[in-house]
Amino acid sequence: MNSFVDIPAMMAACRSACGKVYLVGAGPGDAELLTLRAARLLAQADVVVYDHLVGPEVLALIGGVAERLYVGKERSHHSLPQEDINTLLVRLARAGRMVVRLKGGDPFVFGRGGEELQVLAAEGVPFEVVPGITAACGVASYAGIPLTHRDFAQSCTFVTGHLKDGSCDLDWPALARPRQTVVIYMGLSGLATICSQLVAHGLPESWPAAVVAQGTLAAQRVVCATLGTLAEAVAREGLQSPALTIVGEVVRLRDELAWFHAAAQAEPALNPASTAEA
Ligand SMILES: C[S@@+](CC[C@H](N)C(=O)[O-])C[C@H]1O[C@@H](n2cnc3c(N)ncnc32)[C@H](O)[C@@H]1O
Repeated sequence: MNSFVDIPAMMAACRSACGKVYLVGAGPGDAELLTLRAARLLAQADVVVYDHLVGPEVLALIGGVAERLYVGKERSHHSLPQEDINTLLVRLARAGRMVVRLKGGDPFVFGRGGEELQVLAAEGVPFEVVPGITAACGVASYAGIPLTHRDFAQSCTFVTGHLKDGSCDLDWPALARPRQTVVIYMGLSGLATICSQLVAHGLPESWPAAVVAQGTLAAQRVVCATLGTLAEAVAREGLQSPALTIVGEVVRLRDELAWFHAAAQAEPALNPASTAEA
């Protein structure tokens, strides 16, 4: 009897019996900003596990027989705890299924994609990552605010305004330097604090700043103001999440470069997101 055990072959057999998880970025909202690879995987998936910020036009690209599992994750309202999402992904893949884990924007930018992949890696579940357009890039483009510009900003920093423990403890001296753009994700509830901290650390109250809500969608709204006036203006206008704050002199360029709603009126067929229901 041959007692030789071919471990690589056994592992390969195990891998083929196991399914796979594709961690896919859905982009910032407009379904036309999805990558071709994301669209193809959505059409072929056995099961799609998706988050709160993925809109109906993107979900419409899921193949007809695929199972759809909503796992939520609105601020302070997680429909499934992160540990349960991790376990779910492992279980679905081990059942031999092709799983698309679909997240808003890019999965590696404030998306906990890294945390989910660490669990898959530890459990020996195969995975791939498909990047998406992160909200900062998509939203700034549709708002007509270039994130860098040789005259105004040589760098751009992305930060989250909402930490795990609910606080907003950022490196204010670094963020309050001129000649850069600061983009704050999840910063709406802490907006007044963010603006006053930036002023307290050296930026003038007249420094340009904007909030863009529902960016890249028909419902997109943009409020441009200054650090001294932004929080009040946003409250007055009633902007709602998801919203992104952009701080820096590039915000002024919107006066010249805003294009989205004008393009929608001129060429609605070429801008389906500008006419679709948000
Ligand atoms: C949990 S983070 C996820 C970020 C995502 N992974 C990405 O790369 O864009 C969610 C935050 O992204 C921002 N965001 C996402 N989509 C947005 C949109 N369409 N308009 C404005 N902000 C958006 C908001 O700040 C929101 O609170």
